[in-house]
Amino acid sequence: MRLRSVEELMDLLHACRGARNVPEGGIEPVDLHDHALQTAALLRRSHPADKELQVAGLVHDIGRMLRPGDDAGHADHAADAVRPLLGERVSRLVRLHVAAKRYLAAATRGHGTSALSAPVLTRQGGPMTPAEAAAFERDPMADDAVTLRQADEAAKVAGLDAGVLEDWRTVLELVAARHARLGAVD
Ligand SMILES: [Fe+2]
Repeated sequence: MRLRSVEELMDLLHACRGARNVPEGGIEPVDLHDHALQTAALLRRSHPADKELQVAGLVHDIGRMLRPGDDAGHADHAADAVRPLLGERVSRLVRLHVAAKRYLAAATRGHGTSALSAPVLTRQGGPMTPAEAAAFERDPMADDAVTLRQADEAAKVAGLDAGVLEDWRTVLELVAARHARLGAVD
């Protein structure tokens, strides 16, 4: 799937309301809609000038709606879906959010991911090997991907008010317009 408009993306994010099943049969503390809003809000607070990073946080898990149950592929599905609309950097940050999890799991010996993410991590490849971690660190987007991942892990607080999706419409339109103006043809 390729998203072609902010409206289409907003519809998909709205559809995340109520989605909180995890593959092991458990329940996440927040649904995917609140998780998206909390991730984006944390990034807006820590990186107020980086709209692309914030937006990447907002959309990073839409792959779970596009292909339910595909843990290993959900980052790629989301990255492919947002690329035509939001551009290469947002797409790459989304794509790297699972790699960043594997990197942090290696760097922190398993303490960098939430308990609910741990079983899934195994299916996503487990903690990075030292060689994989070294290669990841050479990626120019590695730091931003780790920042997104840390916000992702922190964005599972039941009952936390992180605003409403409508707050993000103008930011999404800004990022989409900037990408369109740059004339990218993907
Ligand atoms: Fe997430």
